[in-house]
Amino acid sequence: MVMDVMAAAARIEAAGGRVIHMEVGQPAAPAPATAIAAARAALVSGRVGYTETLGIPTLRARVARHYQEAYDIAIDPARVIVTTGSSAGFILAFLALFEPGDRVAIALPGYPPYRHILTALGCEPVAIETTRATRWAITPEMLLTAHRRAPLKGALIASPANPTGTMMTGEALRDLVAAADDAGIRFISDEIYHGLDYAFAPETAARLSDDAVIINSFSKYFCMTGWRIGWMVAPEPLVRPIDRLQGNLAISVPTLSQVAAEAAFDGRAEMEAVKHGYELNRRILLEGLPKAGFENILPVDGAFYLYADVASFCADSFAFAQRMLEETHVAATPGVDFDPRQGRHFIRFCYAGAAAEMREAVERIGAWLKT
Ligand SMILES: Cc1ncc(COP(=O)(O)O)c(C=O)c1O
Repeated sequence: MVMDVMAAAARIEAAGGRVIHMEVGQPAAPAPATAIAAARAALVSGRVGYTETLGIPTLRARVARHYQEAYDIAIDPARVIVTTGSSAGFILAFLALFEPGDRVAIALPGYPPYRHILTALGCEPVAIETTRATRWAITPEMLLTAHRRAPLKGALIASPANPTGTMMTGEALRDLVAAADDAGIRFISDEIYHGLDYAFAPETAARLSDDAVIINSFSKYFCMTGWRIGWMVAPEPLVRPIDRLQGNLAISVPTLSQVAAEAAFDGRAEMEAVKHGYELNRRILLEGLPKAGFENILPVDGAFYLYADVASFCADSFAFAQRMLEETHVAATPGVDFDPRQGRHFIRFCYAGAAAEMREAVERIGAWLKT
């Protein structure tokens, strides 16, 4: 559906209209200058060859150090695996952990590729619907109820989440990881939006269980979507199987992107400034959208998403997003992409753009809804 919205936005732009893009979930800012400089230096040095399958050792060590700095936990660099974005991390984790037919719990609403990758690999995604009652998170009870119905092999959770922008508290995550571990359900934690938190600091599943698989990426906090670079922290027994899988599937991860990623950690001050921009955008939307008439907005804890209920305006969020685009030239994503059922009532705004655009979007939408 977001593709339809993007195509409609492109038509408006081709006809001379100016669209405010809040539909695509990626930062507007470039990668840190440190990353770009390191990639440029590596490029002019000449040869760009394969690297070690699990990643350049200094990058793996740098990622491990990041856990010490950000979460105050020691991670053995041998458990860090560099991947082609978190997207490749999911494929590797699923291939290493699951067999065709295995059932894996995911939250609804949620990031659609989880279920699509699982399905492509012959696994069965088990969607667990979340609601306001649990802050849009899966609880141990919900997980174990699904497990009793038919055994689950895994559970994949994101916090901060896409599309909702909600986060699990450290306590809620700890209880869920413990319940999964006790039941023999492998916990996979998508931590791609870590670093982009506004309400409280996120907890990493790496602290909570040695059996959990942590998936992360340079795409969001470090603004490196197109560099296609991410990482996993895997339980020690999984490292060798994943090494063999990645070696056969891809040989190694793009070398320049690895060099850039290592240097990205030195660009944190620049990325913190980008994050402050998201914080300002978040404030603009949180003040403006309720005034415009949006009465039910999910907790805007992290990432750069705001998930808003549009049921009081229209029974179909796709139709709402289409009309909003046609009449205000503001593009947002209908929730049906993330949740085939409840998503009919929601749209997702991405606030990773410029503050001036956020203000203008709120004004345009407010004026439109008053007419
Ligand atoms: C929750 C979530 N996980 C994973 C990804 C994939 O990101 P990448 O492959 O760029 O690391 C995205 C991208 O939007 C996402 O929203």
